[in-house]
Amino acid sequence: MRVNVWVMATVSVCALFSLEACYYDVEWDLYGPPVDCGQVEAGYSAVIEPMLSLNCKGCHSGTYPDGDLLLTTYEEHVAAAEMSLERISRPATATGAMPPGAPLHPCNVEAFEQWILNGKLDD
Ligand code: HEC
Repeated sequence: MRVNVWVMATVSVCALFSLEACYYDVEWDLYGPPVDCGQVEAGYSAVIEPMLSLNCKGCHSGTYPDGDLLLTTYEEHVAAAEMSLERISRPATATGAMPPGAPLHPCNVEAFEQWILNGKLDD
């Protein structure tokens, strides 16, 4: 549902510009699907959990998770929050930047930091 909304929003934003010079297309290629920066106050289940699930769980789950770090449950996300923020805030080309080679959209990083500052609520 949210993806559809974003596709529509992106298409309408793009329609304002010429088709060959769509800023959002370029940014999307670099950072993946953006969240709405207006959602930075949004909660765990609406924004944070889906974002971590989409971008981290593939490597940080299972019997032998990468980095020996599980990122699947709320408790695991809470325990690793500061460490994760530090990794996702590194420049994309820096050693240890997460996700490797596929930086999060800056609005996603902002949303995650805001969730921590708000007390890592399970809301
Ligand atoms: C393509 C696989 C992959 C994805 C996707 C990925 N990681 Fe990682 N992650 C790794 C690997 C491999 C390591 C171990 C090497 C290192 O520490 O840099 C690691 C290490 C880490 C560490 C350090 C763990 C420790 O104990 O030092 C953190 C924190 C981390 N990842 C967070 C994340 C977060 C948050 C996401 C999603 C936004 C993510 N990772 C997505 C592969 C991945």
